Amino acid sequence: MPEDQPVSLPRQPIRVLPVAVSARIAAGEVVERPAAVVKELVENAFDAGARQVRVDVRGGGLDLIRVGDDGSGIRAAELWLACQRHATSKLSGSNLEQVRTLGFRGEALPSIAAVSEISIVSASDDRGVGWRLTQRDGQVLADEPAPRPRGTTVTVRHLFQNMPARLSVMGRAQTEVGQIGQMMRRLAIAAPRTRIMLTVDDRAVFETTGSGDLATTLVESYGASLQNQLFPLGPVEIAEARIRGVVAGAEVTRPGRGQINLIVNGRWVQPRGLLHLLEAAYRPVLPRGRHPVVALVIEVPPDQVDINVHPAKLEIRLMAERAIGEAAGEMVRAALGRRPRSLQAGFLSGAAALAQEAWLAESATSYDDAGPIVTPGLPPLQLIGQIQQRLILLEGAAGLYLVDQHRAHERILFDRLQAAHAPTSMPE
Ligand SMILES: Nc1ncnc2c1ncn2[C@@H]1O[C@H](COP(=O)(O)OP(=O)(O)OP(=O)(O)O)[C@@H](O)[C@H]1O
Ligand SMILES: [Mg+2]
Repeated sequence: MPEDQPVSLPRQPIRVLPVAVSARIAAGEVVERPAAVVKELVENAFDAGARQVRVDVRGGGLDLIRVGDDGSGIRAAELWLACQRHATSKLSGSNLEQVRTLGFRGEALPSIAAVSEISIVSASDDRGVGWRLTQRDGQVLADEPAPRPRGTTVTVRHLFQNMPARLSVMGRAQTEVGQIGQMMRRLAIAAPRTRIMLTVDDRAVFETTGSGDLATTLVESYGASLQNQLFPLGPVEIAEARIRGVVAGAEVTRPGRGQINLIVNGRWVQPRGLLHLLEAAYRPVLPRGRHPVVALVIEVPPDQVDINVHPAKLEIRLMAERAIGEAAGEMVRAALGRRPRSLQAGFLSGAAALAQEAWLAESATSYDDAGPIVTPGLPPLQLIGQIQQRLILLEGAAGLYLVDQHRAHERILFDRLQAAHAPTSMPE
């Protein structure tokens, strides 16, 4: 038999797989790595109407992931059901086209339970007592009352320990923590009203205030350097969709696409078509290889979006994708194209007075106050602005002048050096 022929086994009868095996097969896609567990548990908290969600992680999430919320809780009698496959409170009957929640597959908890030890403590009222259910490999380890204010805490231990192959391809704890941090930021941006906190190995690493404001949440997620650098986009209505958001000005760009956030009906998604349209729109106004810091919030009627494309729910199909993508792209492009021209204080003599603000409005009135810049060999020039922190745009009687800022600076230094070393008088 040739070597590349697939091995054929003797024919076996067709059987339905035991639940534990089918759950583990499904789990492979739903919970690919610790960050995916965090995503599923936090999304469950959002769906439960939580105002606060706290996530604790140890050992890169492989030792422990704990997600606590103050949401509606799960009734004791339903705890067991919550861990069964295709059991959900979010879909009733066949209304898959009307899904308004983040979850709907009834798959996350059973998938996590299939690859870890899972403990759920939940209370659905304010009596202070809830119920705890702990399971490992389908075995119930605890099923008992437990103190708990209203809400739910899910604790996941020993993730992937029954999947040695998966465990072996996990990155170092630091890599997984990085992924979890990125996931938490995405979740926070998708839910600005929810207060979110992340601790890693007992150290607080990330926190939002749940202010409800998108720009504030972006600053909390990506750092204070974005303060006063974000500008509102929209709202714009197109093809039954409503688009709004915030974007950082053209001088605050990133080398990767990691801070491009698309939120469709409350869900952080990566729809390839939409991202492509967005990128095509901003590409002409940003330097090569640079990407914007942006959050676009798109709301569409639920029957116009298909979220049931992949278990991870990152890819979606939008009915009006082209119209929405082009409109969103145009909003971002227009904002980036209009915003730049920051003027650096004191760089050119006479320009300092212009540069009080990092961002100057389109109107040039504030530039006019500075008076012309007079340099030997050139006519008097009026400073118009700076382009991408590299070129200075000036206007003279004969037309526009572009000055390479770096070279001009070198020339100034050269002239100064020459002047400093010039002999004061010729030797006799
Ligand atoms: N934090 C929580 N607070 C309240 N109820 C919860 C929470 N987590 C899970 N549940 C309940 O358990 C059920 C099962 O959760 P699970 O995540 O497995 O499925 P789902 O969220 O319905 O769908 P999906 O698989 O798409 O996430 C949910 O439908 C919900 O009723
Ligand atoms: Mg869920």
